[in-house]
Amino acid sequence: MDKENIYILAIESSCDDTSAAVLCNNRKLSNVVASQKVHEDYGGIVPELASRAHQQNIVPVVHQALSLANIDKKELSAIAFTRGPGLLGSLLVGTSFAKSLSLGLEIPLIEVNHMQAHILAHFIKEEEMKIPEFPFLALTISGGHTQIVRVDDYLKMEVLGETLDDAVGEAFDKSAKLLGLPYPGGPLVDAHARKGNPRAFPFPKPRVEGLNFSFSGLKTSILYFVQRETAKNADFIADNIDDICASIQHTIIEILMDKVRKAVEQTGINRVAIGGGVSANSGIRQALKDAENNQGWHTYIPKFEYCTDNAAMIGIAAYFKYLDADYADYGISAQARYEIG
Ligand code: KG4
Ligand code: ZN
Repeated sequence: MDKENIYILAIESSCDDTSAAVLCNNRKLSNVVASQKVHEDYGGIVPELASRAHQQNIVPVVHQALSLANIDKKELSAIAFTRGPGLLGSLLVGTSFAKSLSLGLEIPLIEVNHMQAHILAHFIKEEEMKIPEFPFLALTISGGHTQIVRVDDYLKMEVLGETLDDAVGEAFDKSAKLLGLPYPGGPLVDAHARKGNPRAFPFPKPRVEGLNFSFSGLKTSILYFVQRETAKNADFIADNIDDICASIQHTIIEILMDKVRKAVEQTGINRVAIGGGVSANSGIRQALKDAENNQGWHTYIPKFEYCTDNAAMIGIAAYFKYLDADYADYGISAQARYEIG
């Protein structure tokens, strides 16, 4: 076997994407994602359906990842999996699969924190991606989480602030639902927002202490706004969808950026990375580019492939753990709640 090269097979199954990836050291050889469509009809993720779909997807997804990487499983150095946070039933599928494979192949098992992995995705070696220098700040924004994290080293991280209620992805998805857009609405709000006026309808921003966030008030004010306006004009939403989406997105981005600016001031660190599904949003990407151009920040924006849930990010996190010989034992269990650090 090649001693110079570490080959890791990583598995991600924390939410509604079944994913497997193979990395050779810090390079991605394959990254296969099977997104579950079953939830669209329900307007949100149905946990029981998610775990069943993971069970159906996991074997073909792992096979495809190995064959795209052109590697035999006997060449693997370790098996990595997402331990949490996430939906317990979904996590269990990946956890048990990874354990069995590691036992069968007699190679180390490595557990990974999903939120750490979203941050460490920045260290996957890619031509077009800059690698952040330590220390840096990471804004992790997804359907389940909203955090500002201080990153001092690959595996040394501290949460400086987080949401007290809804995650930012939920804020996008729930606002979209109020406008009659299908689930997940985040990308659709983004698409409409690009064509609209962000200042057409001002929404209030919450006052929240420190570096924490809150999004539930915004959802309520959008609900009242839509009810009030549609009472006057039944076609209000259809007539103004681009402007409404642009205004909602603008408010959400301002809520996020206010706290990031505050974190930069407080820590004196002006290197800022984003991660998680919402980092695919054109508004947040533009706001970071503007801060780089106007305020001299150094910003790190992942490729789209590494924004939403994927196993390559689990693989890179596992690679750093492998270098520290930080292996898991077989008694390890999945954890729906799993704090960073
Ligand atoms: O990280 P992710 O794939 O899964 C979780 O761990 O939650 O994030 C999914 C979330 C969903 O809420 C989705 O609506 C949101 O990311 N999202 C977006 C965009 N693309 C995905 N939100 C706003 N604008 C986008 N372009
Ligand atoms: Zn995620």
